[in-house]
Amino acid sequence: MYNLRPLLNCDIYAMACKLGKSLPQKLKLLLIVVSLGSVLTWIVVHNMQDLLRDINPQPLAKTLQRWVGVQMVPRDPHCPPLVSPTPTTRPLCPFLSPYLRGATGLKFDAQLTLEQVQRNNPKVREGRYEPQECHPVQRVAILIPYRNRERHLQYLLEHLHPFLQRQLLEYGIYIINQAGKGVFNRAKLLNVGFLESLKEHQWDCFIFHDVDLVPENDFNLYLCDHEPKHLVVGRNATGYKLHYKGYFGGATAMTKEQFTRVNGFSNRYWGWGGEDDDLRIRVQLQKMKIVRPPLEIARYTMTFHTRDHGNEVNPVR
Ligand SMILES: *[C@@H]1O[C@H](CO)[C@@H](O)[C@H](O)[C@H]1NC(C)=O
Repeated sequence: MYNLRPLLNCDIYAMACKLGKSLPQKLKLLLIVVSLGSVLTWIVVHNMQDLLRDINPQPLAKTLQRWVGVQMVPRDPHCPPLVSPTPTTRPLCPFLSPYLRGATGLKFDAQLTLEQVQRNNPKVREGRYEPQECHPVQRVAILIPYRNRERHLQYLLEHLHPFLQRQLLEYGIYIINQAGKGVFNRAKLLNVGFLESLKEHQWDCFIFHDVDLVPENDFNLYLCDHEPKHLVVGRNATGYKLHYKGYFGGATAMTKEQFTRVNGFSNRYWGWGGEDDDLRIRVQLQKMKIVRPPLEIARYTMTFHTRDHGNEVNPVR
């Protein structure tokens, strides 16, 4: 077991990577100025989100990369990169992979088949992948509760595999299928996925992921932070705004320790809705704070569907 805490200090979204006391005064000053500048930029960018929506996202990705470059002061004793415990001769993968592309328009091919997705991802074996060129920063299990959504699953897998490979993660995708025609229980499926996936591999980080949400920007890193992370800030279905204050559904990232600490999801939510708010309350009761990437990158496309039999809105949610 090892501590994921150092990641906070290296969080690409937090502007203040604990700058070591050993840094010369001038450099420190410079970094403080740069950090302040970045915070200001962030505030400006944040307020101009409506404007930005229409701008080509590529330069934005470049800007983000520049910010990140400022904070990625590796090898600082106060800010060590997360090192996986397995002995390895490979260098640690960069926290921010050079393969990231930012926002690229998503295309959904209605003729797509699962076999095609498999052919497009020859390096994936039984839903798992590990980069060969470097040692991944975290081992990430993606848990997807599922029933009767083949088209959505194809679209998601088509995009998610290359997305995660570009991020240089070691990952495994688990589809947790609810059998039968009973009322759907997303929370229970995710609890099952958490426990079962750990029997197979020592995952560090878990992404609880809806099948109908496709991430639009690969700077939205599928890595865990030192606090529970909510990945879905904006969806095309809700005008790319946070669904509601406190929304904690769609896709969230929690470490094994964080999820264990809140004792997982409640098993009692049958039908659509409620379990995500319950999880937020569990997180808050543990005095943890939910973190979110900037709106500009935490964007998702919701592949459309209507609510079907067995997944009606939970009347007591
Ligand atoms: C979101 O995008 C998807 C894919 O382009 C589309 O099918 C869906 O209708 C969109 N939803 C809304 C509410 O615009």
